[in-house]
Amino acid sequence: MTAPSTSGIVPDPTLYLPRPARILEVRDLTARERFFRVALPEPLQHRPGQFVMLSRPGIGEAPISISNGPRGDNILEMVIRKAGSLTGVLHTLKVGDWVGVRGPFGSGFPLAEFQGMDLLFVAGGLGLVPLRSLIQPVLAEAHRYGTLTLICGFRSPAEELYREDLQAWGRQARVLRLVNETASLPWDGGIGLVTDPLATLPLDPARTLAILCGPPVMYKFVITGLDARNVPHDHIFVDLERRMKCGVGKCGHCQINQVYCCQEGPVFRFSAIGPLREALS
Ligand SMILES: Cc1cc2nc3c(=O)[nH]c(=O)nc-3n(C[C@H](O)[C@H](O)[C@H](O)COP(=O)(O)OP(=O)(O)OC[C@H]3O[C@@H](n4cnc5c(N)ncnc54)[C@H](O)[C@@H]3O)c2cc1C
Ligand code: FES
Repeated sequence: MTAPSTSGIVPDPTLYLPRPARILEVRDLTARERFFRVALPEPLQHRPGQFVMLSRPGIGEAPISISNGPRGDNILEMVIRKAGSLTGVLHTLKVGDWVGVRGPFGSGFPLAEFQGMDLLFVAGGLGLVPLRSLIQPVLAEAHRYGTLTLICGFRSPAEELYREDLQAWGRQARVLRLVNETASLPWDGGIGLVTDPLATLPLDPARTLAILCGPPVMYKFVITGLDARNVPHDHIFVDLERRMKCGVGKCGHCQINQVYCCQEGPVFRFSAIGPLREALS
């Protein structure tokens, strides 16, 4: 049983203590990114756009986006890019190995507010990973939304993520797949930047919500493109991934001025970020 804190409020132990999760599936999506499906002791009960703190005992802990939409079971899907010490070790794990999971953390996307609107998803590289947690529930109830468009960009065909999903989503939504260059593999999508289609895309700014996930530099150019199409800033959502350690507003690693991105973010409405705009440069 959990002991009450001195304030009388019982802390949620799933936010502070890692739960053991067993790896059910692991496979390469690209040379750097690996897909993991793990089983938790109980359902995660997350919202699209939230993240977990993923750990390996004795090695470390890192924020990792939840990549599957909300579901009733205990399954959690993630994509991990090999970046350093922890993610390097995670890439060596196999089916049956164990990881620790704290969370879910963060605000997530206000899915209920999206109903009835045209949705324009723009993903750059690894940004497709958190966006998938939103795209899955939206497509599962596509009749609740207007036109659905996904523009996603990768450096090269070899870096494309979730290729099968993108093909399947293309049956329900307009999916535009772009790469910067095609030297590595044959390519059946477009060549260019995610900003390129914005100028000519059929789009009603009053009905459109734009949801952006990718590297901060992408946001600046996509928002310029959306400005040119008169999409209001309160119709634009950005996913701001800052350095994070605790996930619970204690360590200050994610703090920009008075805002703790781990709690109020990583998803923000662009019109509301004010001083956080420095995070986009
Ligand atoms: C909210 C959030 C969601 C994320 N989701 C994912 C995800 O779904 N998949 C994924 O692969 N990565 C994701 N990241 C980035 C991931 O947390 C880092 O790659 C990870 O912390 C690196 O840990 P490491 O011990 O392997 O690297 P380290 O050995 O600590 O560092 C190696 C390199 O990674 C960089 N790095 C360290 N911490 C971070 C960080 N928090 N963010 C960005 N770069 C960092 C360092 O500058 C260094 O260049 C997310 C980050 C945040 C904040
Ligand atoms: S990650 Fe520690 S305060 Fe946000």
